[in-house]
Amino acid sequence: MSGRFELVSVLACPRCDHAPLTAAESRHRCDACQVDFPSLDGIPWLFAEPAASLGEWRNRADFTLQTLGHEHRRLQAAASSGDVSELTRRRLSEHAEATRDHAERLGTLLAPLKLEPLTASFATNLAFRTRLPSDQGLMKYAYNIFRDWSWGKDENEASFALVRDALDGASPGRTLVLGAGAGRLAYDVHMRTDSEAMVVLDFNPFLLFLARRVTAGESIELYEFPLAPKSIDDHAVLRTLEADQPCRDGLHYVLADAHRPPFVKGGFDTVLTPWLVDILPERFGTLCKRINALLAEGGRWINFGSLSFHAGDPALQYTKEECAEIIADSGFDEPELTETSMPYLCSPASRHGRREQVLGWTAAKRRDVPKALRHKALPDWLVLGKDPVPLLDTFHLTAESTRLRAYILSLIDGRRSFNDIVAAFDQQKVMTHEEAEATIRELLIRLYEARQRR
Ligand SMILES: C[S@@+](CC[C@H](N)C(=O)[O-])C[C@H]1O[C@@H](n2cnc3c(N)ncnc32)[C@H](O)[C@@H]1O
Repeated sequence: MSGRFELVSVLACPRCDHAPLTAAESRHRCDACQVDFPSLDGIPWLFAEPAASLGEWRNRADFTLQTLGHEHRRLQAAASSGDVSELTRRRLSEHAEATRDHAERLGTLLAPLKLEPLTASFATNLAFRTRLPSDQGLMKYAYNIFRDWSWGKDENEASFALVRDALDGASPGRTLVLGAGAGRLAYDVHMRTDSEAMVVLDFNPFLLFLARRVTAGESIELYEFPLAPKSIDDHAVLRTLEADQPCRDGLHYVLADAHRPPFVKGGFDTVLTPWLVDILPERFGTLCKRINALLAEGGRWINFGSLSFHAGDPALQYTKEECAEIIADSGFDEPELTETSMPYLCSPASRHGRREQVLGWTAAKRRDVPKALRHKALPDWLVLGKDPVPLLDTFHLTAESTRLRAYILSLIDGRRSFNDIVAAFDQQKVMTHEEAEATIRELLIRLYEARQRR
């Protein structure tokens, strides 16, 4: 492939999966679906349901800022309490001020989420079943930004070395990074190889807003709040996030869901999936087919990271040997597997830090395989609302335990003792007296402790 790369040349509609997109004035459009996809802070927002996904990320942004506000007030109140030492007061006051300042800085960075008006109707919400996983909060990978753009030289170098070794001197050509996070690896690969173009995809706008600004040459300050601060000065550390130099041409950011990548078939020579394959909720075999479709014939898939699938079904919790078999069955050559030990998120301000035994593979695409089924985040009975809601064991169990919890809590009236409550509960005859005592005590301890932590 040659000629100057235009992002639009590899884009396809994430709704209908095939129509090319046209670019016009900070928007992309699918004429077949008659939907516009906005750009936020200069990054195309290419989710199948642009309005619904924007609504979800806005909510997450609001929630994050509100949580910081709450934390600020809690720290301030603790700092003004009479029974803390001067040293503790200093720590609490500094932490409170850093939290307030951080919220303000984050609010500025996230402002593009609020500004962009949308044309697609919110009524499409859920119809394409691309709802975001609830465990993927806006700040879930916040530590990655400090590693990528502040203190993580050794870790970043180790990641780049894995890709450089996998390329073995070949040019990566048109390259796509799926789940790119704060974008350091994509920047390094683009700056240190002769990649023709680098397309950087993630679904978290906080990470990509930041990555785009930093790789364009901006310097951004945000606070790191280490999990296990090493000293009193490490509770809130203002970090400067910056790249050595602005990135060369050809680096493109795309906000989209890796389950519905908005790209034409065979658009890339190299697909990178750093620390991604085992956190996606879909079956590994489906992801392999999806990556096959993104690659041109002879293109390569380079993966590295952990291998810890969390699927409820134990049959889907694959090992490296099973992954290798599935990759080879998905139109790739037998993958080359590597094992590397490397540091992971070892902040100089934290006592926490890991060493990971990282599994890598490189697999060349040999042939096309039948297309992966469309990703469905939600079942028909939830999306269409017409089928009966199935009596799943989880609903049944939750109904029963909620009923019992509600009954126990209804017995608390400010006068009854613990023993009175157990005696009243005994009359339900759902468990022995000893079991009732233990269960009620555990419930009350949990609620009491949660209150203490608030
Ligand atoms: C474990 S982090 C790894 C980040 C980065 N690759 C690195 O090595 O630092 C996983 C990344 O995948 C992104 N991600 C998770 N699910 C995704 C999805 N369905 N579509 C796009 N990105 C996703 C997360 O936002 C996060 O940035």
